[in-house]
Amino acid sequence: MSCPPAQAHNPAMDTMRTLSPIDRLLAEGQRALETVLGAPPANRTNPGDAVPDVVLDDAERRHAAGLMRINHVGEVCAQALYVGQAAVARDPATREHLLEAAQEETDHLAWCGDRLRELDSRPSLFNPVWYAGSYAIGVLAGLRGDGWNLGFVVETERQVEAHLAEHLQTLPPGDLRSRAILETMKADEARHADDAEQAGARILPQPVPLIMAAASKLMKAVAYRV
Ligand SMILES: [Fe+2]
Ligand SMILES: [Fe+2]
Repeated sequence: MSCPPAQAHNPAMDTMRTLSPIDRLLAEGQRALETVLGAPPANRTNPGDAVPDVVLDDAERRHAAGLMRINHVGEVCAQALYVGQAAVARDPATREHLLEAAQEETDHLAWCGDRLRELDSRPSLFNPVWYAGSYAIGVLAGLRGDGWNLGFVVETERQVEAHLAEHLQTLPPGDLRSRAILETMKADEARHADDAEQAGARILPQPVPLIMAAASKLMKAVAYRV
Protein backbone atom coordinates (compact mmCIF):
# COMPACT_ATOMS: atom_id res chain seq x y z
CA MET A 1 0.00 0.00 0.00
CA SER A 2 1.53 3.30 -0.90
CA CYS A 3 1.36 6.62 0.80
CA PRO A 4 -0.69 9.02 -1.37
CA PRO A 5 1.46 12.13 -0.78
CA ALA A 6 4.56 10.29 -2.09
CA GLN A 7 2.65 9.15 -5.15
CA ALA A 8 2.54 10.89 -8.50
CA HIS A 9 -1.04 11.38 -9.71
CA ASN A 10 -2.01 8.35 -11.74
CA PRO A 11 -4.48 9.18 -14.54
CA ALA A 12 -5.04 5.45 -15.08
CA MET A 13 -6.88 5.35 -11.77
CA ASP A 14 -9.29 8.09 -12.84
CA THR A 15 -9.92 6.06 -15.96
CA MET A 16 -10.49 2.85 -13.97
CA ARG A 17 -13.07 4.65 -11.80
CA THR A 18 -15.22 5.66 -14.79
CA LEU A 19 -15.02 2.48 -16.90
CA SER A 20 -17.89 0.04 -17.45
CA PRO A 21 -17.31 -3.55 -16.21
CA ILE A 22 -16.41 -4.77 -19.73
CA ASP A 23 -14.08 -1.83 -20.35
CA ARG A 24 -12.48 -2.49 -16.97
CA LEU A 25 -12.00 -6.16 -17.86
CA LEU A 26 -10.30 -5.15 -21.11
CA ALA A 27 -8.15 -2.59 -19.28
CA GLU A 28 -7.12 -5.26 -16.77
CA GLY A 29 -6.31 -7.68 -19.60
CA GLN A 30 -4.13 -5.04 -21.21
CA ARG A 31 -2.42 -4.35 -17.90
CA ALA A 32 -1.76 -8.09 -17.44
CA LEU A 33 -0.24 -8.34 -20.91
CA GLU A 34 1.94 -5.27 -20.35
CA THR A 35 3.14 -6.65 -17.00
CA VAL A 36 3.89 -10.13 -18.29
CA LEU A 37 5.17 -9.39 -21.79
CA GLY A 38 6.13 -5.76 -21.93
CA ALA A 39 8.21 -3.38 -19.93
CA PRO A 40 5.87 -0.94 -18.18
CA PRO A 41 7.65 2.38 -17.57
CA ALA A 42 8.67 3.47 -14.07
CA ASN A 43 7.50 6.78 -12.57
CA ARG A 44 10.68 7.18 -10.54
CA THR A 45 14.34 7.08 -11.58
CA ASN A 46 16.02 3.69 -11.22
CA PRO A 47 18.08 3.91 -7.96
CA GLY A 48 20.75 1.75 -9.62
CA ASP A 49 21.46 4.49 -12.18
CA ALA A 50 23.21 6.57 -9.51
CA VAL A 51 25.89 3.94 -8.78
CA PRO A 52 28.64 2.45 -10.98
CA ASP A 53 28.05 -0.84 -12.80
CA VAL A 54 30.93 -3.02 -11.56
CA VAL A 55 32.04 -5.93 -13.79
CA LEU A 56 31.07 -9.25 -12.16
CA ASP A 57 32.57 -12.66 -12.93
CA ASP A 58 30.29 -15.25 -14.57
CA ALA A 59 29.25 -17.02 -11.36
CA GLU A 60 28.47 -13.71 -9.63
CA ARG A 61 26.53 -12.43 -12.63
CA ARG A 62 24.43 -15.63 -12.83
CA HIS A 63 23.70 -15.52 -9.10
CA ALA A 64 22.75 -11.82 -9.21
CA ALA A 65 20.52 -12.48 -12.24
CA GLY A 66 18.81 -15.38 -10.41
CA LEU A 67 18.06 -13.13 -7.45
CA MET A 68 16.83 -10.26 -9.62
CA ARG A 69 14.62 -12.67 -11.59
CA ILE A 70 13.04 -13.76 -8.29
CA ASN A 71 12.45 -10.12 -7.40
CA HIS A 72 11.01 -9.41 -10.85
CA VAL A 73 8.57 -12.33 -10.42
CA GLY A 74 7.72 -11.02 -6.94
CA GLU A 75 6.71 -7.72 -8.52
CA VAL A 76 4.67 -9.45 -11.25
CA CYS A 77 2.85 -11.30 -8.44
CA ALA A 78 2.36 -8.10 -6.42
CA GLN A 79 0.84 -6.35 -9.46
CA ALA A 80 -1.52 -9.25 -10.14
CA LEU A 81 -2.46 -9.64 -6.49
CA TYR A 82 -3.34 -5.96 -6.05
CA VAL A 83 -5.19 -5.65 -9.36
CA GLY A 84 -7.15 -8.84 -8.53
CA GLN A 85 -7.98 -7.54 -5.04
CA ALA A 86 -8.96 -4.13 -6.43
CA ALA A 87 -11.33 -5.77 -8.95
CA VAL A 88 -13.54 -7.01 -6.11
CA ALA A 89 -12.81 -4.46 -3.33
CA ARG A 90 -16.06 -3.12 -1.82
CA ASP A 91 -14.84 0.23 -0.49
CA PRO A 92 -13.67 2.71 -3.18
CA ALA A 93 -10.93 3.98 -0.80
CA THR A 94 -9.54 0.43 -0.42
CA ARG A 95 -9.70 -0.03 -4.16
CA GLU A 96 -7.82 3.20 -4.77
CA HIS A 97 -5.20 2.22 -2.17
CA LEU A 98 -4.68 -1.10 -3.97
CA LEU A 99 -4.34 0.50 -7.41
CA GLU A 100 -1.90 3.08 -6.03
CA ALA A 101 0.14 0.25 -4.49
CA ALA A 102 0.13 -1.57 -7.83
CA GLN A 103 1.45 1.60 -9.47
CA GLU A 104 4.44 1.80 -7.13
CA GLU A 105 5.11 -1.90 -7.71
CA THR A 106 5.37 -0.99 -11.41
CA ASP A 107 8.50 1.02 -10.58
CA HIS A 108 9.97 -2.04 -8.86
CA LEU A 109 9.02 -4.23 -11.81
CA ALA A 110 10.67 -1.85 -14.30
CA TRP A 111 13.86 -1.49 -12.20
CA CYS A 112 14.24 -5.29 -11.82
CA GLY A 113 13.65 -5.68 -15.57
CA ASP A 114 16.33 -3.05 -16.31
CA ARG A 115 18.82 -4.80 -14.04
CA LEU A 116 18.11 -8.22 -15.57
CA ARG A 117 18.93 -6.78 -19.00
CA GLU A 118 22.14 -5.23 -17.66
CA LEU A 119 23.08 -8.64 -16.27
CA ASP A 120 22.49 -10.19 -19.75
CA SER A 121 19.56 -12.17 -18.42
CA ARG A 122 15.76 -12.23 -18.81
CA PRO A 123 12.56 -12.41 -16.75
CA SER A 124 11.00 -15.72 -15.75
CA LEU A 125 9.43 -17.71 -18.60
CA PHE A 126 6.60 -18.58 -16.20
CA ASN A 127 5.49 -14.97 -15.69
CA PRO A 128 2.05 -15.59 -17.26
CA VAL A 129 1.52 -18.45 -14.78
CA TRP A 130 2.69 -16.37 -11.81
CA TYR A 131 0.42 -13.50 -12.89
CA ALA A 132 -2.67 -15.69 -13.37
CA GLY A 133 -2.18 -17.51 -10.06
CA SER A 134 -1.63 -14.30 -8.10
CA TYR A 135 -4.62 -12.59 -9.73
CA ALA A 136 -6.83 -15.52 -8.71
CA ILE A 137 -5.50 -15.37 -5.13
CA GLY A 138 -6.11 -11.60 -5.11
CA VAL A 139 -9.73 -12.04 -6.19
CA LEU A 140 -10.32 -14.75 -3.56
CA ALA A 141 -8.76 -12.57 -0.84
CA GLY A 142 -10.78 -9.56 -2.01
CA LEU A 143 -14.05 -11.49 -1.85
CA ARG A 144 -13.50 -12.04 1.88
CA GLY A 145 -13.87 -8.29 2.47
CA ASP A 146 -11.70 -5.21 2.74
CA GLY A 147 -10.16 -6.08 6.13
CA TRP A 148 -8.87 -9.31 4.60
CA ASN A 149 -7.78 -7.45 1.48
CA LEU A 150 -5.57 -5.14 3.53
CA GLY A 151 -4.42 -8.02 5.74
CA PHE A 152 -3.24 -9.77 2.61
CA VAL A 153 -1.30 -6.67 1.58
CA VAL A 154 0.43 -6.54 5.00
CA GLU A 155 1.38 -10.23 4.90
CA THR A 156 2.60 -10.03 1.28
CA GLU A 157 4.67 -6.90 1.90
CA ARG A 158 6.21 -8.29 5.11
CA GLN A 159 7.18 -11.51 3.34
CA VAL A 160 8.66 -9.59 0.38
CA GLU A 161 10.55 -7.31 2.78
CA ALA A 162 12.03 -10.40 4.50
CA HIS A 163 13.20 -11.97 1.25
CA LEU A 164 14.69 -8.68 0.07
CA ALA A 165 16.68 -8.56 3.33
CA GLU A 166 17.89 -12.10 2.58
CA HIS A 167 18.89 -11.13 -0.98
CA LEU A 168 20.80 -8.09 0.27
CA GLN A 169 22.87 -10.54 2.36
CA THR A 170 23.64 -12.90 -0.52
CA LEU A 171 24.08 -10.49 -3.45
CA PRO A 172 27.66 -10.40 -4.78
CA PRO A 173 29.37 -7.54 -2.87
CA GLY A 174 30.34 -5.85 -6.15
CA ASP A 175 26.77 -5.69 -7.45
CA LEU A 176 26.12 -2.15 -6.25
CA ARG A 177 23.35 -1.47 -8.77
CA SER A 178 21.16 -4.41 -7.73
CA ARG A 179 21.84 -3.49 -4.10
CA ALA A 180 20.65 0.11 -4.62
CA ILE A 181 17.46 -1.14 -6.28
CA LEU A 182 16.72 -3.71 -3.56
CA GLU A 183 17.35 -1.23 -0.73
CA THR A 184 14.83 1.23 -2.20
CA MET A 185 12.31 -1.57 -2.81
CA LYS A 186 12.72 -2.85 0.75
CA ALA A 187 11.99 0.62 2.19
CA ASP A 188 8.94 0.95 -0.11
CA GLU A 189 7.57 -2.49 0.86
CA ALA A 190 7.90 -1.68 4.59
CA ARG A 191 5.94 1.54 4.02
CA HIS A 192 3.31 -0.32 1.98
CA ALA A 193 2.78 -2.73 4.89
CA ASP A 194 2.61 0.09 7.46
CA ASP A 195 0.08 2.01 5.35
CA ALA A 196 -2.13 -1.07 4.96
CA GLU A 197 -1.99 -1.69 8.72
CA GLN A 198 -3.07 1.89 9.37
CA ALA A 199 -5.86 1.60 6.78
CA GLY A 200 -7.50 -1.17 8.85
CA ALA A 201 -5.86 -4.47 7.86
CA ARG A 202 -6.98 -7.58 9.71
CA ILE A 203 -4.42 -10.14 10.86
CA LEU A 204 -4.73 -13.19 8.62
CA PRO A 205 -5.41 -16.45 10.46
CA GLN A 206 -3.15 -19.48 10.09
CA PRO A 207 -2.67 -21.40 7.86
CA VAL A 208 -3.00 -18.52 5.33
CA PRO A 209 0.42 -16.91 6.07
CA LEU A 210 2.05 -20.37 6.08
CA ILE A 211 0.49 -21.25 2.71
CA MET A 212 1.63 -17.88 1.29
CA ALA A 213 5.17 -18.52 2.56
CA ALA A 214 5.20 -22.02 1.02
CA ALA A 215 3.95 -20.69 -2.35
CA SER A 216 6.60 -17.98 -2.26
CA LYS A 217 9.33 -20.54 -1.48
CA LEU A 218 8.29 -22.61 -4.51
CA MET A 219 8.22 -19.50 -6.72
CA LYS A 220 11.73 -18.50 -5.55
CA ALA A 221 13.18 -21.97 -6.22
CA VAL A 222 11.76 -22.00 -9.78
CA ALA A 223 12.36 -18.34 -10.69
CA TYR A 224 16.02 -18.44 -9.65
CA ARG A 225 16.60 -20.78 -12.61
CA VAL A 226 13.78 -20.23 -15.12
FE1 LIG B 1 7.41 -4.17 -4.81
FE1 LIG C 1 4.92 -3.33 -2.09
